Amino acid sequence: MIHKHDVLIVGAGLAGLRAAVELAGKADVAVLSKVFPTRSHSGAAQGGIAAALGNEEEDHVEWHIFDTVKGSDYLGDQDAIEMMVSEAPEVIIELEHMGVPFSRTKEGKIAQRQFGGHTRPKVGADGKETRVAIQRACYAADRTGHVILHTLYEQCVKHNVHFYSEYYVVSLIVKDGVCRGLVAFDIQTGELHTFHAKAVMFGTGGYGRAWKITSNAYANTGDGVAIAYRAGIPLEDMEFVQFHPTGLWKLGILVTEGARGEGGYLKNKNGERFMKNYAPTVMELAPRDMVTRSITTEILEGRGIDGKDYVHLDLTHVGEATLKERLPEIIGFAKTYVGVDPVKAPIPIQPTAHYSMGGIPTSLFGEVYLDEKGTILTGFYAAGECACISVHGANRLGTNSLLDGVVHGRRTGKQIAKFLQTAEFSELPENADTADRARIDELFASTNFKESYHHIKDTLRDNMMAKAGVYRNEKDLKEMKQIIHELREKYKNVGLRDKSKNFNTELMEVLELGHLLEFSEVVVEGAIARQECRGAHWRTDFEKRDDTNWMKHTFAFRTEKGIELKYKPVTVTKYQPMERKY
Ligand code: FUM
Repeated sequence: MIHKHDVLIVGAGLAGLRAAVELAGKADVAVLSKVFPTRSHSGAAQGGIAAALGNEEEDHVEWHIFDTVKGSDYLGDQDAIEMMVSEAPEVIIELEHMGVPFSRTKEGKIAQRQFGGHTRPKVGADGKETRVAIQRACYAADRTGHVILHTLYEQCVKHNVHFYSEYYVVSLIVKDGVCRGLVAFDIQTGELHTFHAKAVMFGTGGYGRAWKITSNAYANTGDGVAIAYRAGIPLEDMEFVQFHPTGLWKLGILVTEGARGEGGYLKNKNGERFMKNYAPTVMELAPRDMVTRSITTEILEGRGIDGKDYVHLDLTHVGEATLKERLPEIIGFAKTYVGVDPVKAPIPIQPTAHYSMGGIPTSLFGEVYLDEKGTILTGFYAAGECACISVHGANRLGTNSLLDGVVHGRRTGKQIAKFLQTAEFSELPENADTADRARIDELFASTNFKESYHHIKDTLRDNMMAKAGVYRNEKDLKEMKQIIHELREKYKNVGLRDKSKNFNTELMEVLELGHLLEFSEVVVEGAIARQECRGAHWRTDFEKRDDTNWMKHTFAFRTEKGIELKYKPVTVTKYQPMERKY
């Protein structure tokens, strides 16, 4: 079956839906999503969305820009950061006008809370300037992503955006440097569909499911990045993967940084607030990479609770009323999943794979690059977590992800609208779905069940956690590369036991596993090559950041001989790299 739309948006998170709202009424726009739209992973974002509104205390866009540059460990492109942060106040007001129910200050303004790495200058008694935490995260209790997602979905419905819910995209149709559509299957029927479009945008989210402990939803298997990579698009900075400091122990479920923003403490087995040893000025509100390394160091040095691999997030002093008003979901999660009432007892937490800084390289307007020189692939766009602009560099600040999704979804939508003013439908290649059909038929026909896809996936995720996680070194990374190579060989022999067409989740999981293996190799290759410590990429065999050799973005190309790495310099406008202290 062939469908035709001006624009196809893949992914119904914040970036995808914000782009759809921008395009609605200007073009025939359709959104494809592997889950029902309001189940998209943006809905799991809890603590807030950053903007220098200054509703609670003095704040300035320039302070937010500086924090984001410094937080990125100077790998973020400063022109891109400046654009994103400057647009932040406007997009928040727009969201408010669309109906997002933000929490309020006493005066009725949008409420803001503290988050890691967001700071303001403060002159001490000794006349010296330090930076202390600032209230910059606009929030709706601890459901910020959820309410923005639902509001944007309502706007899409109101503006007649067409949804293909539970459609799983398997490939892009690219010919002669032009993206012409995509191939997807309807999960409900198993039927393969071809979609013809003038423009395709990916807002497919991140790739955290390659790690054993993750805050990411089951759906976050990096499909978008892997599909783009297979279509000949390089991937940028894939080695930078953020571990959020506070995931529920063993489960990885997010416990918002907003909990520390509301005053929560991190404590080791001695009851010590150990962050004083790592970031004495901002303590628990240091950027994520630092807090995560601090927790991991405490655990590795035997100061985890009972010597185990977790520490405590203590909210008991915050007060029941504040917790119930501002962190109701966290109370529920802790009670339900680990049997702890945070009003009365500390929550067991450990770092959890959370956010993918790397992804599909794009211009400031969401146009996808085919190389490190900036050649654009006509008709293909990306925004949100699957894209790398790069506004987060080596380490994203909390609450800048929702901002990224909304700002770049909006900006990419505007760019696509401009493109459509002159764009025509390019001809679809004959049998655009032949390769995908053959692959799926082959899986159904297979009677070889020697290799279990579960086993391959678990082996990948366990080892990515151990060897390509918070701390890395050359030996582990090279072992990981070999493990992935062996798993890819095994993957060739995976077959489907479930031969039914309707809701065949086994088929989907097998295809997802192919994506996990594909991009994990890129993560590891980039991590082996990058011989320094920067943001979330921390090599124990190197002592520090190396600005002389590594102020550059990794571009990974898929070639017949394997992965080829090239590099592109970081854009520095105002802020020269400095030592990163908090
Ligand atoms: O901690 C959190 O609420 C997560 C927010 C984010 O990743 O930006």
